[in-house]
Amino acid sequence: MIKKLLTVSISLVLASGAGTAYAQGKTGVGKEKAASCAGCHGEDGNSTMPGFPKLAGQHQGYLLKQLKAFKSGERNAPMMAPLAMGLDEKSMEEIAEYYSVQKISKNPAPALPVDEDDDAPEKTEEQKQTQLKNLIEQGGDLYRNGNISREVSACVACHGPYAEGNKPASYPALHSQHADYLIKTLSDFKSGQRSNNRENMMHMIATKMTDEDIKAVSYYISTLK
Ligand code: HEC
Ligand code: HEC
Repeated sequence: MIKKLLTVSISLVLASGAGTAYAQGKTGVGKEKAASCAGCHGEDGNSTMPGFPKLAGQHQGYLLKQLKAFKSGERNAPMMAPLAMGLDEKSMEEIAEYYSVQKISKNPAPALPVDEDDDAPEKTEEQKQTQLKNLIEQGGDLYRNGNISREVSACVACHGPYAEGNKPASYPALHSQHADYLIKTLSDFKSGQRSNNRENMMHMIATKMTDEDIKAVSYYISTLK
């Protein structure tokens, strides 16, 4: 009798803790498998290098799709291809789940790109700050409203008011992503270098954007928390 009671209470304890233990177990495996990614993407998916995207908090479905596309070559990325090649689908799922439950880090306050206005006379700190503020405002306007005359769609429609993306549709979250990465990837959509998206949606949008639009909207998005 005592033995029987003991078994019952143990299984009750197990049952109540099972959900979280299972989730932790799964992400624990994902974390281990993501060890080789940490050098570029940071241990918790918060890369500190502006050219390497942050993965923390990104939707699992989106991450998984990109990993498969790196492996198949549909998304052309020389650095990522050999890494994805070594992953089977289960590992991809586990790694994607691990990153998706991490919290994305905030970016430091942006500075103007150094290549800005090479020939112009040296600006004062105040002028630089005003220029930066205007650029970010311009980016915010494009993000929320698009550009009707140039037929650029409003980003907010798919990526959400806080650039949190759309989980069920696997539209990526963009907030707090590095501006440098956003500029690079939007330019890749524009040139067609990155083309593994349904109906080439982002290519259609990015081709209508000027380099100035791309810079402005990327700076804006990088400041969203
Ligand atoms: C040597 C540096 C490096 C390593 C190591 C690395 N990555 Fe990457 N990763 C990149 C770069 C650079 C990109 C951007 C590729 C591009 O668009 O050209 C990227 C992009 C990605 C993306 C797409 C992100 C997005 O927002 O679209 C995912 C997902 C990803 N990496 C996962 C991984 C995983 C998982 C690993 C480990 C198995 C890994 N990476 C290891 C450099 C690296
Ligand atoms: C009609 C829906 C839609 C609209 C509008 C849209 N996007 Fe996207 N965006 C997507 C989808 C879907 C993807 C994922 C593409 C893929 O699977 O590779 C994406 C991907 C991206 C990425 C790549 C994210 C990463 O981590 O690599 C960036 C950056 C981006 N969009 C920026 C923008 C900006 C800026 C605008 C507004 C000018 C915009 N998008 C408007 C649907 C949209």
